[in-house]
Amino acid sequence: MIIKMHQIVPGQIEQQDPELLVLLVPAGQSGFTGHDYPQALTDTISHYQALGDWHEKSKYLLCLSPTQIKAKRLLLVNTDMDIPVSQARQTSQLIDGTLKQLNLTEAQLFMPPWLTNSQRLIHALYHASYRFADYKTSPQPALPEKIELLVCNDELQDELAYATALHTGKCISRDLANMPGNLCTPTYFAQQALLLAERYSSITTEILDEQQLAELGMGAYLAVGRGSAQPTCMPVMHYRGTLSDVPTIWVIGKGITFDTGGITLKKPPGMQNMIYDMCGGAAVAGLMAALAELKLAVNVTGVIATAENMPDGDAFRPGDILTTMSGQTVEIISTDAEGRLVLCDAITYARQHNPALIIDVATLTGAQIVSLGSHASGLMGNSPALNQALEKAGEDSDDRAWTMPIWPDYQEPLDSPFADMRNAGSNSPGMITAGCYLARFAGDTPWAHLDIAGTSFHYGTGNSATGRPLPLLLQFLRNYSNLSAAQWSIDTDACGFLP
Ligand code: BES
Ligand code: MN
Ligand code: ZN
Repeated sequence: MIIKMHQIVPGQIEQQDPELLVLLVPAGQSGFTGHDYPQALTDTISHYQALGDWHEKSKYLLCLSPTQIKAKRLLLVNTDMDIPVSQARQTSQLIDGTLKQLNLTEAQLFMPPWLTNSQRLIHALYHASYRFADYKTSPQPALPEKIELLVCNDELQDELAYATALHTGKCISRDLANMPGNLCTPTYFAQQALLLAERYSSITTEILDEQQLAELGMGAYLAVGRGSAQPTCMPVMHYRGTLSDVPTIWVIGKGITFDTGGITLKKPPGMQNMIYDMCGGAAVAGLMAALAELKLAVNVTGVIATAENMPDGDAFRPGDILTTMSGQTVEIISTDAEGRLVLCDAITYARQHNPALIIDVATLTGAQIVSLGSHASGLMGNSPALNQALEKAGEDSDDRAWTMPIWPDYQEPLDSPFADMRNAGSNSPGMITAGCYLARFAGDTPWAHLDIAGTSFHYGTGNSATGRPLPLLLQFLRNYSNLSAAQWSIDTDACGFLP
């Protein structure tokens, strides 16, 4: 679906003749008085008020065949002037649901001058229009194609362009994340990464295969996929949005295409959800597309740390000692703590390329869901300045993250009698322990980790990928691109987070 803008004066609303016209009515007011609307609209509202269909407590009303205006159908929706996230989503779902119910593909929405936060509604409209191409063979309702925003000035132009780029990225990300393990394999990820490079001249892609990963010494990364019939690989995508040689930001996504837990096998009900264990990798692919659409002046390299975690005669086992690319050794406590194993080697790889900073995004722990639920991603890192910038980007984009401590005090559960560390604690605070594990590989490179287990898909019901944390990541890079290097200071020395 695409959202377009069409500039009008309020007096022309009655002249529009869409199949469906959506008008927002400010909360606490039943009509449009004082807002410079044409008389015909006021009369239309009065008509429905007289009928008793529209009153002060009405949330919305669908009016079929209104007589005073040219629109064929009119949807009235009550909203606050400073529209909250929940209301923007409800309103968007209502518009989307109405289109579906009437089997329509287009609508017009008047953006009233009194609405602050209009961009929030635009993002929500895009979000609600998403459909996962399901695998039903029977005919399905028509897809929404276009929403035309009727606006009084062109103030929203930049925000609409931004939202459209974000939407393009989110659709790519949600499609990949929603695809089950038999359809989205590591090889499929690699193909999609190559397609992005074909589609956008600002992106180049390289795929590291098993042999190259072995030559690099990625003993932890490769162990995860050893039980799978699907070959392991590591797609690396380079987006260059600026010619100046500013250092590159590396974004690494966990892309486990299915996580059975391996030899430490998961139980059936939870295992079903593990088709979403590649939401991090999917977010990285979507991010690259969004950056290319926006032509944002930053340099970003995206890594999809992908493998399939299966039990097999050749699978890695609990007790195994692996040598990571960093040279540090890891004793495997649980083959189900596999995400950190692909991530730690990807982080080491990134560090060898002189990054400005590293961000990893991963459906890493069930403990994140227990701690923060679906409202905020768990944020951990070795740089307070970077943490703050990411928290702010989360606030700015309605995709919040909350900083958790990874003090050295939390490192102890990772002690191993045989190796440099274990890959999991027992009865330790799981989200933080995972963050502490990754911190050992980030060293003194500015690094942040987002645990998105609870935010990137709807656990249990709904079963659909949300596209998070792409809004946060794109917002962070947008904020970052607006800063000069001097304004942007990242301190790792003052933080005391290093183990
Ligand atoms: N992919 C899971 C984490 C997860 C669980 C994501 C539920 C989304 C929903 C991860 O690989 C995992 O299994 N983590 C273990 C770690 C433990 C063995 C230390 C967990 O959280 O139980
Ligand atoms: Mn696991
Ligand atoms: Zn996993």
